[in-house]
Amino acid sequence: MTDSHGMTASRAQFTSTFGFLMAATGSAVGLGNVWGFPTQAANNGGGAFLVAYLVLAFLLAYPALMAELMIGRHSKTNIVTALSSLDERPLLRVIGASVGYGGLLTASLILSFYAIVAGWMLSKFLLPIAELLGFAELALWFGEDSVTRNLVTCFVFSALTMGIVARGVSNGIERWSARLMPILTFILIVLIAYVLTLPGALMGLQVYLSPDFSQLTDSGLLLDAMGQAFFSLSLGVGTMLVYGSYLHAGLAHKSNVNALPRLGAAVALLDCGIAFIAGLLIIPAMYVAQAQGIAIFGEGGELLAGPGVVLQVLPALFATMGTAGIWVSIAFFMLMTIAALTSSISMLEVPVSVVTEKSRLSRRVSAVAIGAVIFAVSVLLIFNMGTLFEGVIILSTRYSEPLLGLALCLFAGWVLFRHRALTKMCAEQPEMKKSLFWRIWPTYVRIICPILIVLMLVQSFR
Ligand code: PHE
Repeated sequence: MTDSHGMTASRAQFTSTFGFLMAATGSAVGLGNVWGFPTQAANNGGGAFLVAYLVLAFLLAYPALMAELMIGRHSKTNIVTALSSLDERPLLRVIGASVGYGGLLTASLILSFYAIVAGWMLSKFLLPIAELLGFAELALWFGEDSVTRNLVTCFVFSALTMGIVARGVSNGIERWSARLMPILTFILIVLIAYVLTLPGALMGLQVYLSPDFSQLTDSGLLLDAMGQAFFSLSLGVGTMLVYGSYLHAGLAHKSNVNALPRLGAAVALLDCGIAFIAGLLIIPAMYVAQAQGIAIFGEGGELLAGPGVVLQVLPALFATMGTAGIWVSIAFFMLMTIAALTSSISMLEVPVSVVTEKSRLSRRVSAVAIGAVIFAVSVLLIFNMGTLFEGVIILSTRYSEPLLGLALCLFAGWVLFRHRALTKMCAEQPEMKKSLFWRIWPTYVRIICPILIVLMLVQSFR
């Protein structure tokens, strides 16, 4: 049986609201939360950055997140079909399909570099395990940055991602997110409790939390914060759209017009919350490392940031901890691998949902085939680290994501709500008129959000 979108009637869906919450939070909470956010905050005015980030996340990223969830929820299909069928006019169909394919490409491009970084995390996780088991040579191999090691660990990580996505929405994505996210939170809390007892940690806490508002006037900083917020909430590439499309039918019950806005707010809050908590681990840990004589500042006097922290500073610190260090190291890199995996499955789901719904290929075949193509791109990047890697990251996260986010806001605000959904829903559900969210959001996402995103992007070209 098929419906108006040409989809089979028995489309996959999450089995519960909790399952959706775990999957969406799993997508949002990723490497970005642990390596990006904390050091960015510590370097840019500490507590002041936290406040600015929170404001940006709720003023810009949350409305964009809702735009994706609503489009997905409404059209119950992948990003390409959804955007090209919101309006019948040919021009809008073409623009919609282009934005959809743009999202698909960006999601795939992000996955191609993300899987490499995740492979690094995996090797740091396996290194101490190999050591414990007495495989000294293997441990050495995991520890040395070589092309072969990067190829192998990236391959293993990509295969895990493909395996979960191939199993389907509820059996793969939902089940694994619901298993892994509680483990991640548990590890994070235990590690924080441990690190805060070490000498130097309190100094780190102070740097992280004490606000310096003078740094917030820098416009580049706001652009970076916006990029970080979009990346952290997995926006613009259709991840949240397709997850929204798998929400189970019961959620949109008539009496509960605020269910989806609340669910979106929960995802945004959990994501910001975990980024904040990750900072309570990373920054104090860096200052503990400093107390042990490990360098944590760059040449300009700024705190080291990015993968270097996670791959060099922290391992150097763990090495000073003796036996405890082995377990801390295993726990920390397990956390990183889990964070990466629940995000990478959501990236792969974007192209897989398009291909399975637009062609006759089964989910299994398309997950493996698309995963293989993306892995091929990763291989290309691994062989061209110096020239391509950085560029792909900047292109996909700094420009492509906010631009696509902008397009999705415009689609939600001008197309989805103008033509059918809002008018119909409003007529059916008078309580929508009373809800704060529904009174503000449609206009907001139509006008204010796009203007703000454009302003930020224009700033970055100056
Ligand atoms: N949100 C993820 C992170 O913080 C990255 C991501 C981007 C996931 C885009 C899916 C889509 O690491």
